Amino acid sequence: MTHQEIREKFLNFFKEKEHAIVPSSSLIPTDSSVLLTTAGMQQFKPYFLGEKSPFGNRAVSIQKSFRTSDIESVGDESHLTFFEMLGNFSFGDYFKREAIEWANEFLKLVVKDYKNRMHVTVFEGNDNVPFDQESYEIWKSLGVPEEKILKRGREDNFWGPTGNEGPCGPNTEIYIDGLEIWNLVFNEYFCSRDKKLILLKQKGVDTGMGLERLAMILQAKENIFETDLFAAPFEILLNRPENQQRSGRIIADHIRGSIFLLSDGVRSSNKEAGYVLRRLIRRILVHAKKIFIPQELIFDLIGKAIDFYSSVYEDLEKNKKLILEFFKEEADKFNLTLEKGLKEFDKRYPLKLGKRVQIEKKIGQDAFDLHQTYGFPLELIKELLNERFYQFDEDEFKKKIEEEFKKHQEISRAGVEKKFGGHGLSFDRDNLSPEFHNVKLHTATHLLHQALRQILGTEVKQMGSDITPERLRFDFSFSRKLTEEEKRKVEDLVNQKIQENLDVKKEEMSFEEAQKSGALAFFKEKYPKQVSVYSINGFSKEICNGPHAEKTSLLGHFKIIKEESSSAGVRRIRAILE
Ligand code: ALA
Repeated sequence: MTHQEIREKFLNFFKEKEHAIVPSSSLIPTDSSVLLTTAGMQQFKPYFLGEKSPFGNRAVSIQKSFRTSDIESVGDESHLTFFEMLGNFSFGDYFKREAIEWANEFLKLVVKDYKNRMHVTVFEGNDNVPFDQESYEIWKSLGVPEEKILKRGREDNFWGPTGNEGPCGPNTEIYIDGLEIWNLVFNEYFCSRDKKLILLKQKGVDTGMGLERLAMILQAKENIFETDLFAAPFEILLNRPENQQRSGRIIADHIRGSIFLLSDGVRSSNKEAGYVLRRLIRRILVHAKKIFIPQELIFDLIGKAIDFYSSVYEDLEKNKKLILEFFKEEADKFNLTLEKGLKEFDKRYPLKLGKRVQIEKKIGQDAFDLHQTYGFPLELIKELLNERFYQFDEDEFKKKIEEEFKKHQEISRAGVEKKFGGHGLSFDRDNLSPEFHNVKLHTATHLLHQALRQILGTEVKQMGSDITPERLRFDFSFSRKLTEEEKRKVEDLVNQKIQENLDVKKEEMSFEEAQKSGALAFFKEKYPKQVSVYSINGFSKEICNGPHAEKTSLLGHFKIIKEESSSAGVRRIRAILE
């Protein structure tokens, strides 16, 4: 089934059930407390709260959505920044039964062997909101066996609000082959600015299903990039050797994201949505450089992508010239920056062709200057240093970043940060802070690892870890879901260690010595003979390359935002520093 057929099938299915087909709203939301449109429900927020809807009480849409929260995960099988969300909505009309029955009916219609491939989750309840027994019973009545109806906590099965306040409620999620595909939210509450839940006068339904993920299932593809939504416009980017695959996917995702942002009127700048756009464009250019794609080809691809999506979004075609111009302007600016930086780089570290220079000099201060003054992406600095046989000095670089961060700390960011909400960037848009935030999250990862071992036992072993400016992700061996109490205890212990303001110390030693000293190692990693060991005063000790914050008090407040299964016997925690 092509993406066009999926769109038509979905819209018609709900049209037959008396839903008004409503066009996607802009990626720039009317609600100024959110940075970008992250969900289909955003344009309907007032109708959930009782305002009369101009198109009746039932709506269906395919919404352009943009989420920055997973920008660093783009490149894997299923993560994107820009995506399209299929959704049906009820404003005080139907509720759980119809919503679940119709979702089930639709998927049965389109997904081969649906019954065997699906499972669902429902809200297990907490101190404020009861267990969603009703949804549980509805799924059961539809013939879903109890072992396929999993109960989950707040992070997984309670959705909203977007922005500072708004409708929210328990949700039920449908999975196919273990991949979350459709989220049905039952808006029963209003969450106020001070995080109080108040029962809404009218109940509503807000659902969202990722078009790209559904296409992946219906077209029987291994990943979203093989679906016709990507394969057709970006073939040249996606058929790459394995070591270029991630960059190719990032470019494809970011081209989609930036053409839609530009078409909706976002312009690059150093703050808010403009910064997101700038970041996408710069990442496109850096990754293109990395996999030897000339800039002209990038422009061709942008044109192709615009043509491809114009069949669905007419505005794109109308704005084609403008999009290309803005893109080019931004690219020229960045190239100039890169050029200036490269010149400076060449001056300081001439490329001695054919002559291998001994690696001895560690570069920290200079790397920081190039990053700060010339806007050089750190990724590129590291690569160039490496190419010229210099060693990047993480510690020195980190120290400079920290100093700079302290200087900037006085500037109040509160007002701006609020806007980044649950789905946006949670870091300062200052060039430096994302780097420093990464450093802090890295230290928080060590605290979390040790806290998990203390609370859950030493069966906990690190299975993977990933840090983006927005959050940390930590995979560890453990056989079951954590209870709410366990999660709270882990959070408390990490926060206690932060408050104790412990020193983070680095020592160099041989790998054997490190192991003897009890330092934790990540078994998947191959370590060199000589390693660095970071210890957090009496609490944690790990073999690690750093960099880390110098003292734990710099970390702020630690919070787990999601705990879920990653694969059999492996749990995954996402956490943030506030
Ligand atoms: N608003 C819900 C979501 O974005 C459906 O997942």
